[in-house]
Amino acid sequence: MNFKEKLIKLIINNYELDEGLISDLIEIPPQEEMGDYALPCFKLARNFRKAPGKIALELKEAIGKNKYFSEITNNGPYLNFFVNKELFARTILETILSQKEKYGAQEIGSGKNIVIDFSSPNIAKPFHVGHLRSTVIGNSLYKIYEFLGYNCIGINHLGDWGTQFGKMIAAYKKWGNDQEIKDNPIQTLLKLYVKFHDEAEKKPGLEDEGRLWFKKLEDGDEEANKLWKWFVTLSLEEFNTIYDILNVSFDYNTGESFYNDKMADIVQSLKEKGLLQKSKGAYVVDLEDYDMPPCLIIKSDGATLYPTRDITAAIYRKETYNFSKALYVTDYSQKLHFSQWMKVIELMGYDWADQLEHVPFGRVSSEEGALKTRKGNVILLKDLLAKSVEKVKRIINQNNPELNDKDEIAEKVGIGAIIFNDLSNSKIKDVVFNWDRMLSFDGETGPYIQYTHARANSVLEKGQTEITTLTDYSDLSNPEAFNLIKLLSAFPETIIKAMERNEPSYIARHIINLAQSFNKFYHEYPILVEDETTKKARLLLVFATKTVIKNGLSLLGIEAPDKM
Ligand code: ARG
Repeated sequence: MNFKEKLIKLIINNYELDEGLISDLIEIPPQEEMGDYALPCFKLARNFRKAPGKIALELKEAIGKNKYFSEITNNGPYLNFFVNKELFARTILETILSQKEKYGAQEIGSGKNIVIDFSSPNIAKPFHVGHLRSTVIGNSLYKIYEFLGYNCIGINHLGDWGTQFGKMIAAYKKWGNDQEIKDNPIQTLLKLYVKFHDEAEKKPGLEDEGRLWFKKLEDGDEEANKLWKWFVTLSLEEFNTIYDILNVSFDYNTGESFYNDKMADIVQSLKEKGLLQKSKGAYVVDLEDYDMPPCLIIKSDGATLYPTRDITAAIYRKETYNFSKALYVTDYSQKLHFSQWMKVIELMGYDWADQLEHVPFGRVSSEEGALKTRKGNVILLKDLLAKSVEKVKRIINQNNPELNDKDEIAEKVGIGAIIFNDLSNSKIKDVVFNWDRMLSFDGETGPYIQYTHARANSVLEKGQTEITTLTDYSDLSNPEAFNLIKLLSAFPETIIKAMERNEPSYIARHIINLAQSFNKFYHEYPILVEDETTKKARLLLVFATKTVIKNGLSLLGIEAPDKM
């Protein structure tokens, strides 16, 4: 039990007060003089039928002396609580020491399934920075939910179906060159696709050819399917190199095509429920009552669409995984799409429609053309990742030329920097790409956090002391140590908040604060001192900090090298 829970118990002890209410009321005061926790008593007026100031006084008396809080003061309508610093240090540090990489883990999700639809690039199209964001955010959410005891199902909903594949096949039949495609699959296929559109403007009949090929594909035509499969395999090979670098995997790579044979039933059901309307030859679900444009279900040429597949996929996933939540991680430009089809699910009468959640994120922009190649083209993602690793290698060669395993470490730091840059701000904000800023070893960056972790590790190694619990924690009650321990203690709550809002940045911010607080402590207090008792106490704090930084990075999908 943490100190906040202890406090709640102490407050409600003699009264019939709601635990949740008290928990919501308890604040962390902005200034230290106001205690470690505060309880504003305004909202308790109804329970006590007294003025807030009187309530504060009564509660203070009722709680009385106890070992958890060394001092309780009342300040008008506020009660301020000061924790017993030594007991606090003991409780937190001993918990971390015994739980280690499990510190912060919980079982609140046990027995519940969470489906996370993330990454989901499109076959035969480049994997772009938007997909990178989806991958990185989705992967972190997966780890966060899993750490809290949920059973996660990660799905890569590949864009591998739709009329564009008909066009691609038509273009390939006309202008395709196998060798060129094998050498550089995505770029070549994309070029074919662009050429198709250019030519179609001059030759309107071409569009029909594309449509025909897609129809063939949907109907299971052998040639169409063979070519489509080839495009899919080649694209996946490229995507997998990126997933390997990022250390990301999926439980299922079921793309849009997976639902091809499942859509007819859903369309039938929409019809039976009276939701389908004919509009200019197409079938739609009218959403005027909800201030949205109609949701397109079937095009006038009979082809299904992106929303048709999402509706079908959601129903399939509910039946298959019985999720308690299904998340969809995409950039915010798809907001309307998700609102529309999720509304259709609701209109179909599925009471679980409110378990579907779009998790939108902002765009990626860059300063000084960081996302361009020298020729001014958009940089390919794998080149971008490689560039980051290359730049870090150069920095390491300058800072620490003697380091062993430089390549491996540069890889962890270079990739970590990109991931951290993506996750360190609220996800709806646009991400700015600036090499110098994100690779800096002393900003709010991935390398800074990793460097702090490595520094803690190196002190521990030099210390050559077994890390154990202490008999006396008084050495750790100075303000710097106490501040650090407070941050260590708040780590588990931060993970829960990150889960509740699907916001990995809470964890990123927390470990930035933790690293800064640690570095303050480290500069103020030498660790490897003569006095054994003091040294042991400080090393325990270093160990706890290292452990929590590592756990935090791991929840973001970032590795923590021991040296750098
Ligand atoms: N393939 C889509 C894109 O690149 C993202 C798919 C997101 N997932 C979904 N179930 N719609 O924009």
